[in-house]
Amino acid sequence: MVTRRRMIGAALATGGGVLLLRTTQHPAASATATAASAGDGAHTHPAGTDADPGPDAGPALAQKFTTALPLPPVLSPVATDNGADTYTMTMLRSFARILPGRRTDVLTYNGAFPGPVIRARSGRPVIVRQTNLLDDPVSVHLHGSSVPPDSDGGPMNLLDAGATRTYTYPNAQPHASLWFHDHAHHLESEHVYRGLAGTYLLTDATEAALPLPSGRYDLPIALRDARFDTAGNLVYRMDDAEGRATILANGRPWPRVDVAARRYRIRLLNSSNLRFFSLRLADGGPITQIGSDGGLLERPHTTDTVDLSPGERADVVIDFSRYRPGTGVVLTNSMPPGPAEHVGQVLRFDVGRPAPDPSAVPDRLRTLAPPGPAVRERTIVLKVETGGGLAPRGLIDGKAYDPARVDASVAFGTSEIWTVVNANTDIPHNFHLHLVQFRVLARNGAAPGPGEAGLKDTVRLMPGESVRLQAVFDSYRGRYPYHCHLLDHSAMGMMAQLEIT
Ligand code: C2O
Ligand code: CU
Ligand code: CU
Repeated sequence: MVTRRRMIGAALATGGGVLLLRTTQHPAASATATAASAGDGAHTHPAGTDADPGPDAGPALAQKFTTALPLPPVLSPVATDNGADTYTMTMLRSFARILPGRRTDVLTYNGAFPGPVIRARSGRPVIVRQTNLLDDPVSVHLHGSSVPPDSDGGPMNLLDAGATRTYTYPNAQPHASLWFHDHAHHLESEHVYRGLAGTYLLTDATEAALPLPSGRYDLPIALRDARFDTAGNLVYRMDDAEGRATILANGRPWPRVDVAARRYRIRLLNSSNLRFFSLRLADGGPITQIGSDGGLLERPHTTDTVDLSPGERADVVIDFSRYRPGTGVVLTNSMPPGPAEHVGQVLRFDVGRPAPDPSAVPDRLRTLAPPGPAVRERTIVLKVETGGGLAPRGLIDGKAYDPARVDASVAFGTSEIWTVVNANTDIPHNFHLHLVQFRVLARNGAAPGPGEAGLKDTVRLMPGESVRLQAVFDSYRGRYPYHCHLLDHSAMGMMAQLEIT
């Protein structure tokens, strides 16, 4: 049982682009966190004890860039009849070889760490039969999808230990790089941290008609952080942003990515619980962002930095033909916390020989219809409350999550504008809305940057920031959550519920 936790907030120093850290000791666990680990003799994990696990015992610096980036397995359907693709997945404990010479216990979909990839096409439903062989209840959520409430994998729609159920994904939405992950309330943060996350790539005719790099030149890369004990196991402590000093790309620390000297499409996902990334090529070279959470941008935009908060995706194209064969190009991260020699380098692209490259990035990638007039405006305030010797609480509009309460009632078929405010001055948050892909209208009163001009389901809110977004609720009726996607925060209560009627 946890009797003390550390609350760590990372804060952005205004203008400097440098994150500062604030560390506060709290004498008691939060009520939500206590509930999560109470009465859990059959829990999946030994973590949450008060004993200091020691500093992150991740890989040695000498192991940088010595292992190849693995690509997660692509699942094959078990049936393709009746106009749908059916998959089966089993959630089970397994082990992964993350660190050289050591085995790490992980929670997996089908034994894969990170989880497998499902490739789907708009207009063709996917049915996933999930069996839970773990000791905890789970809930499988397809992040970024438009699905009926029963298949949304909400926090209370649990799949008990030992049980099987079917999730149906209509795929009645345009292409997008989605991901699936656990969402069982209070357990989601630890479950995702221990491995319950996978990739779901939805394509459509619009995307397929473009000459973008494809096949082996289209790499999904999920980034996250982790903290290891000396035995090589993952240490989970709530709010442990500072302790997680090992960055994993597709489940490996500092991998090497062998690339041909040509264009690649790279689909970046931040699957961390708490860590924000600010990614650059070490030489400052151009990165062409072509997509975000909800698929392609209208136009590509060239940048030297890609920022990703937990749950966000960025689809980028990098042209390695500008490098001499034999060049190593490191992908760097400038976001603390953690020692720069550990968290400052993510992976290295090792450029090989040129390869034929028929790909191109057209100036026009897609057209997005403007969202039309909104019928209602709301303000949503995110805040972690700390101090007074009390446990930190995650709040939306002053309230912790209550599944019995509807916090926002929306009329079906209408469009709304939500202004989301981060009321903390020293803790970053982000905001994720289930069911819809929204448009960012403004960030701190100004037009959003080009990387946020497309469809989004998760948006970054650095300390004190506000974002105005607009969503159209015309797909399904029912109840869906919205929350901060720093999963340790949503597990602390920073989640609310909307009902479309
Ligand atoms: Cu990525 Cu409510 O989830
Ligand atoms: Cu989601
Ligand atoms: Cu948060």
